[in-house]
Amino acid sequence: MNSAVPQTEDAGAAASARPTDVLGTSAAQARSAVLEELIRKDPGQFRVLTGDRPTGRLHLGHFFGTLHNRVRLQELGVELFVVIADYQVLTDRDVADNLLQHVEELVLDYLAIGVDPARSTIFTHGAVPALNQLMLPFLSLVSVSELNRNPTVKDEISHSRQSAVSGLMFTYPVHQAADILFCKANLVPVGQDQLPHLELTRTIARRFNDRYGCGKAVFPQPDALLSSAPLLLGTDGTKMSKSRNNAITLAATADETARLVKGAKTDSERHISYDPATRPEVSSLLLLAGLCQGRTPEQVAADIGSAGAAALKKVVTESVNEYLAPIRARRAEYGQDRAHLRAILGEGNERARAVADATLAEVRAAMNTCY
Ligand code: TRP
Repeated sequence: MNSAVPQTEDAGAAASARPTDVLGTSAAQARSAVLEELIRKDPGQFRVLTGDRPTGRLHLGHFFGTLHNRVRLQELGVELFVVIADYQVLTDRDVADNLLQHVEELVLDYLAIGVDPARSTIFTHGAVPALNQLMLPFLSLVSVSELNRNPTVKDEISHSRQSAVSGLMFTYPVHQAADILFCKANLVPVGQDQLPHLELTRTIARRFNDRYGCGKAVFPQPDALLSSAPLLLGTDGTKMSKSRNNAITLAATADETARLVKGAKTDSERHISYDPATRPEVSSLLLLAGLCQGRTPEQVAADIGSAGAAALKKVVTESVNEYLAPIRARRAEYGQDRAHLRAILGEGNERARAVADATLAEVRAAMNTCY
């Protein structure tokens, strides 16, 4: 794998339009379009790292936002690393509850959607000491005011369940940079909220290379790849989130799905139309059915016409259950053999450790800390 993303003329133009500090969403979108073209031409140039916090089962918001993008990239021939970010759970709570169970649930979700452990690497922070060790030199490369400015961290602090904000909350984006850079990933498929972390990762890579690289780039400056799917709302019309009980998980049964959709918020207008600005709840349901059917939400709305919210919910339930049936079947199958599941994670951890050890050795050599 070549760690430097090839730059085309277009890529150069998109990059120069990018503000130096904060990567704007529109610049990231323009860059993502360029990247898609490069991926199609030469997937072998790319290594992807992405991941999730093990706090519960993944849901359809995760799936259409980022998960299916990972599998798509894998199928295009891009090398994929997926981190189960166990240390990151401790950013906004004192104790990470049921960690082992949540880690296994994530592995199950990944396997169910088609992450192939023969080609892709699934691992946890906790099992890769050399990754964590990168955090120390990386911390020395960022200022306290840069950490203070991170809008995603600010938002998480305002929703935190802790009475005091921990040092890990402020510094986890640096740890996330270590997640990405330990394997020299050059592509990170993320949602918009992760863009500040990506920008920090690029800054750290650049500063490390400038300070210690002796003219050679030790780390690539990874690109964000934004998903093109619009945001799905939860069944109550607010952000889909497992803590709000408004999320359809990949693992939910067909009956649970039907119940959740039945209780979903709609509006009193009988004619069903797609208009996210004025009818956010109905539109999100149409979007969900459309994503599952591989059609536009407008087409789904046209089918239903004036049949009302009950008809819409029936279509949504059937579409989701049909779409998820093979994923759920695969999940159930993998779930029957916990030992196999643990073995898959063990192999992923081992692979990640080898990569992290090699990168740490390079970092120590660059920093003159080989004694
Ligand atoms: N911060 C991400 C989230 O909350 C999870 C994550 C951890 C991640 N490490 C990462 C995402 C590295 C992308 C790359 O969902």
